[in-house]
Amino acid sequence: MDQLVMSMLVVTALLTYARMSTSSDDDRLLVNMTVVSSAGALEAYCLDGSLPAYHIHLGFGAGANNWLLQFEGGGWCNDIESCSERAQTRRGSTLLMNKLETFSGILSNNASRNPDFYNWNRVKLRYCDGGSFAGDSKFDNGTLVLYFRGQRIWQAIIEDLLPKGLGLANKALLSGCSAGGLASYLHCNNFSSYLPDTTAVKCLGDAGFFLDSPGINMLHTQRIFFQNLVTLQGIEKNLDENCTSSISDPKQCIFPQYLLKYITPPLFILNSAYDVYQFHHILVPPSADPDGHWNRCKLNPKACGPDQIRLLHAFRVEMLTAVRSFLYNSSRGGVFINSCFAHCQSESQDTWFALDSPQLLNETIAESVGDWYFSRNVSKKVDCPYPCDTTCHNLIGAV
Ligand SMILES: *[C@@H]1O[C@H](CO)[C@@H](O)[C@H](O)[C@H]1NC(C)=O
Ligand SMILES: *[C@@H]1O[C@H](CO)[C@@H](O)[C@H](O)[C@H]1NC(C)=O
Ligand SMILES: *[C@@H]1O[C@H](CO)[C@@H](O)[C@H](O)[C@H]1NC(C)=O
Ligand SMILES: *[C@@H]1O[C@H](CO)[C@@H](O)[C@H](O)[C@H]1NC(C)=O
Ligand SMILES: *[C@@H]1O[C@H](CO)[C@@H](O)[C@H](O)[C@H]1NC(C)=O
Ligand SMILES: *[C@@H]1O[C@H](CO)[C@@H](O)[C@H](O)[C@H]1NC(C)=O
Ligand SMILES: *[C@@H]1O[C@H](CO)[C@@H](O)[C@H](O)[C@H]1NC(C)=O
Ligand SMILES: *[C@@H]1O[C@H](CO)[C@@H](O)[C@H](O)[C@H]1NC(C)=O
Repeated sequence: MDQLVMSMLVVTALLTYARMSTSSDDDRLLVNMTVVSSAGALEAYCLDGSLPAYHIHLGFGAGANNWLLQFEGGGWCNDIESCSERAQTRRGSTLLMNKLETFSGILSNNASRNPDFYNWNRVKLRYCDGGSFAGDSKFDNGTLVLYFRGQRIWQAIIEDLLPKGLGLANKALLSGCSAGGLASYLHCNNFSSYLPDTTAVKCLGDAGFFLDSPGINMLHTQRIFFQNLVTLQGIEKNLDENCTSSISDPKQCIFPQYLLKYITPPLFILNSAYDVYQFHHILVPPSADPDGHWNRCKLNPKACGPDQIRLLHAFRVEMLTAVRSFLYNSSRGGVFINSCFAHCQSESQDTWFALDSPQLLNETIAESVGDWYFSRNVSKKVDCPYPCDTTCHNLIGAV
């Protein structure tokens, strides 16, 4: 699927651009990698057969018994070709990953940058399976071996963390962005099953609410993409059974919109209604725009014509429709859906909590998530349509 690879590169470039504009490098928190050596016994391997890993920064003070787990994101691979390519990159092998990871935004240990979670135990789960930590199968034709063991990686990491204090957590939050945001939706119930009833367990999906929506060519590109992913990686058996038993195509339960009503712990949906990934891959996948009419608009919303803006607004309405029942009827849920051309707003400092961060009703994302987690206030906020929001950090590509 070079289509995905290509557009992944675009998003990566945009995210790199966003990161460059964040706070100074000298006081960054760098956290060393922990390889999960016990994972071998579970055959919990990365695509290439390497051992999975996480980064942990211990909590302190009042947060010492609270745990935040965050899934790393980074697209998916859904056929042998793309997975064998991925296995030779940092997205498919911990051997090729940076060993020191920057903890910023929701992972920051600085109260001025992360007011509610700075003193928690914070763990970043590295993503090396290409299937949102949910697959369980293997490809082996004699010359090429690929492990699709995301679900086992999840299990191995949890079982490694439980005796390190997670098993005695007072409060716990499962988070993640993009493919990691999807993982957070997919694993929320399972996370809670590992923890005692006395632990307050909640989940946050950032930019993981991928819509089952047709693109401008009326084709369901993401649905087909996910169907191939679920089949290749053996994900179906790990999808929520309440969902799979009540839908005509069980594979559809990988979409958060169908899974939503079966997620038991309190959940926070953080997403942009104009999520850049979804804009570029679901609404206008490259295959739907062979002549590149959308290229300028994709790089800068100010360059979008009225017809393009109309289609973007319609996509926003679809997103709001998909969360409508949750928005009105979930008493313990939180929602922050802004109208920014963004993708992942909890991990980078400038969108999570800074003087000029995106806001809704005068609150940053960090404050809204904190209000929800600690039940300080109802925290359900939906933005007005683009371009009304002046607090956005829109990802603008090089023209
Ligand atoms: C990271 O951990 C490895 C393995 O434990 C160790 O060799 C290395 O020195 C550590 N690096 C830093 C910067 O702490
Ligand atoms: C904490 O963050 C504030 C605000 O960004 C900054 O001024 C301060 O230097 C940071 N403290 C540390 C120890 O990095
Ligand atoms: C195994 O699969 C790879 C990738 O599809 C292919 O290049 C290779 O030729 C296959 N090997 C055999 C023995 O079929
Ligand atoms: C959670 O996931 C693990 C690992 O896949 C599995 O063994 C366990 O049965 C799951 N628990 C529940 C309650 O689904
Ligand atoms: C899922 O199914 C189980 C077993 O039928 C049931 O006990 C549970 O309440 C269901 N959960 C949801 C959220 O529907
Ligand atoms: C909320 O739940 C009630 C009762 O189940 C239902 O009648 C109503 O349509 C729901 N509202 C939305 C917006 O889904
Ligand atoms: C937001 O805060 C500003 C400055 O504190 C205030 O003037 C404004 O009325 C507030 N707006 C809302 C919607 O609360
Ligand atoms: C709770 O939220 C409402 C609406 O956003 C706001 O007006 C109010 O000031 C908030 N209360 C507190 C205690 O933050």
